[in-house]
Amino acid sequence: MKIRELVVATKNKKKMQEIRDLLKGNGIKLYSLADFPDAPNVREDGKTFKENAAKKAVRIAKFTRKLTLGEDSGLEVKALNGAPGIYSSRFSGWPKDDQRNNRKLLRKLKDVVRSSRGAAYKSAVALADINGLIKVVEGACSGIIGDAPKGTCGFGYDPLFIIPKYKKTFAQLGEKIKHTMSHRAKALDKIKKTLIDL
Ligand code: IMP
Repeated sequence: MKIRELVVATKNKKKMQEIRDLLKGNGIKLYSLADFPDAPNVREDGKTFKENAAKKAVRIAKFTRKLTLGEDSGLEVKALNGAPGIYSSRFSGWPKDDQRNNRKLLRKLKDVVRSSRGAAYKSAVALADINGLIKVVEGACSGIIGDAPKGTCGFGYDPLFIIPKYKKTFAQLGEKIKHTMSHRAKALDKIKKTLIDL
């Protein structure tokens, strides 16, 4: 099998580990931004997950001159009109802090009943090379926001994100189950063929 090289334009170690797990077994040697300490900081100033994912992929591909995958993701809560959305990682300000973000989300939903706490994780994945953008796709996963954090796996909003089928949060269910249904797994699945055929 021909080994391909792919840079993942992220510094988020947990996200990187998920992408590693999800792309395992396809003959792809993965690098993250930890392997390129001089890579430019890409400002996430797009209006959509897709715009941000594409921006990360194109900028980092230009810098590394390698095939690059950009991923931008977040949580959209119906009762909050889609917030925190593209602002998910910095919902409660800087520096980014998952626990503080979760506390803010719980505060905002404190008067919202369980039946109105629907939400979706979204993940946009973009592929680019030195010549520019190749493809952008999106995956989504539906859930319900719980009223207290539960579980220790995953990252971000996982302790609050309940999968109705299991009545448990992603943080309780663990990576194996998360990878069968997550927004990131669905987006990567859509781009895998392009990645392998290139
Ligand atoms: P990004 O690094 O700008 O794409 O930010 C993604 C943010 O969205 C994370 O910091 C989390 O707050 C949230 N998020 C995205 N995907 C997940 C997930 O799989 N689990 C939990 N939180 C997630």
